[in-house]
Amino acid sequence: MAHEDPHSHARPDEARVTHVGLRLLVDFERRCLRGTATLAIEVAAGARSLALDTRRLSIHGVTDDRGAALAYALGPDDPVLGACLTVTLPEGALAVVIDYVTAPDAEALQWLDPEQTAGGAHPFLFTQGHAIQSRSWIPLQDSPGIRVTYDAHITVPHPLVAVMSAERAEVTDDVTADVPDGAATFTFRMREPIPAYLIALAAGDLGMRAIGPRTAVFAEPVILERAAHELAEMEQMVEAAEALVGPYHWGRFDVVVMPPSFPYGGMENPRLTFASPSLLVGDRSLTTVIVHELAHAWAGNLVTNATWNDFWINEGTTVYLELRIHEALWGEERAAMLKSSGFRDLGLEIERMGASSPDTRLHYDMTGRDPAEGVTVVPYLKGAALFWTLERAVGRGRLDRWLRGWFERRAFQSVTTEELLADLRAHLAEGDAEEAFRAVDLDRWIHEPGLPPEGAPPPSALLARIDQAATAVLGGAPPASLDTAGWTPHAWRHFLGTLLASGPERDVAPALDQAFGLSGSSNAEVATPWLRLAVRRRDPAAVARLEAFLGEQGRTKFLRPLYADLLASEWGAPIARRIYAASRPRYHALVRAGLDRLFGQDAEATPGAS
Ligand code: BES
Ligand code: ZN
Repeated sequence: MAHEDPHSHARPDEARVTHVGLRLLVDFERRCLRGTATLAIEVAAGARSLALDTRRLSIHGVTDDRGAALAYALGPDDPVLGACLTVTLPEGALAVVIDYVTAPDAEALQWLDPEQTAGGAHPFLFTQGHAIQSRSWIPLQDSPGIRVTYDAHITVPHPLVAVMSAERAEVTDDVTADVPDGAATFTFRMREPIPAYLIALAAGDLGMRAIGPRTAVFAEPVILERAAHELAEMEQMVEAAEALVGPYHWGRFDVVVMPPSFPYGGMENPRLTFASPSLLVGDRSLTTVIVHELAHAWAGNLVTNATWNDFWINEGTTVYLELRIHEALWGEERAAMLKSSGFRDLGLEIERMGASSPDTRLHYDMTGRDPAEGVTVVPYLKGAALFWTLERAVGRGRLDRWLRGWFERRAFQSVTTEELLADLRAHLAEGDAEEAFRAVDLDRWIHEPGLPPEGAPPPSALLARIDQAATAVLGGAPPASLDTAGWTPHAWRHFLGTLLASGPERDVAPALDQAFGLSGSSNAEVATPWLRLAVRRRDPAAVARLEAFLGEQGRTKFLRPLYADLLASEWGAPIARRIYAASRPRYHALVRAGLDRLFGQDAEATPGAS
């Protein structure tokens, strides 16, 4: 069934792409991908055109599968959607072949110089398709409601390795590619139908280390050992997830550790999660991000939001599963703390956005806007809070049965919010759970802004201890007297967040630093709130640390609050501008776009723009 998608030009009811075949050369010198995309199509009776999404692609020609030229037209370049490529189809068309080159500033592609990698000797390329960037490196129907299988032949210069969100078939030396010092072609195949945003490619100096029978980590050789140590629990993660929601459908669960400018903690590309090197902190404390991406193997990849207005289906269900897996692996106390801490962050964010802001609805409307604007904690934690509420109402056993049934019923399909609600009503409200289920005001949760207070998770004893500790130091207790035994970095993050939220009345940071050495923390979850406290204090001693952190870090999640805090004061604004001008060229285009908006400058006027 086709879903209306405001973020795609595709008209799948007329002609729908079912398979994508890529033959691409990765050209680091010209910073482009060059080659062909062969799209297998299903055409409705009488339909004569195929509508595709593109963004700044140079189209060199379109043929049918026998090489006969086809007429095509590129529409106007919409600032959000890009340009529609319309191909005129001959009678009985089964496939079209598009010969194209990507633009040097293609949004999905980040081209890194050797000095931006861990090893420093080879360039690196990675793609980021989520949400609507795949169209900037492949002409296709870029809607999460449309699923395709794919295969790819990717040619990279020697000695680089290409990896994709797919099975690797073979590697051949390539003598045909016109690349100095030789090239190799890597062949991939994804047999399961996936939405276009999950087609992903990385190329660089990558090694591989097996973790378990179904799990492995890829990383640059100089960080491979560290990565394998950090991610040693991956196989147990998959087992815990399967025990909760049923079989893992993707064969392997591998992770590739990206260079520092990777804009997210993790990205759930099927079979091969892309992960930020900021997770490599040595104590495995941030691998909860990997658990999150693993949960997407069901919530998001197996059953996908039909449009980006249904994004909460992907992220809310995933956060719910993430914390259940977390509980199974590392115990209830930690999971409960993360739930409560997340719920507080949700409350603060909704307060900041305004409790009546339409973007605080679970099913929101991003029509005419970049779906990136909808990425707040709302789809994540308000979404998860709905599942906590349902779990309390009908009982965990029943919700678990529903989850397993849901992933079976809708496997490899894309679903709308209304379809999810209908399924809940049909399958969750059984027997004596009927009344409790009806008591959850689903329409309010989904369609009304603000925070339903009944979403609050049960109190967490660990969180209460952290909050007490914060109250105590703010009341004048010496930090050295705090009992912080068993505090994880996430516990510290919550503690520092509480100090931040409490206002600047008492300056406790220097004593805290003396007691706990927080300035030395290399864990970004701790360093970020810690530096935010320093910014609030206008601590000149922190400027060098800020500069180093903002220069190295690539994740919006950490960059944005620090720049925003700096910009908010006369003391900080010039510091923010100076550091941003120096660091901006290293940030990912998606991060730059968000930060440019924050700085209120357009790209051309920004020093360091590239
Ligand atoms: N799918 C997201 C990353 C993403 C979000 C890409 C929005 C593009 C647009 C991924 O699963 C995610 O949510 N990552 C989080 C991890 C976290 C919530 C544990 C991140 O990167 O911080
Ligand atoms: Zn996610």
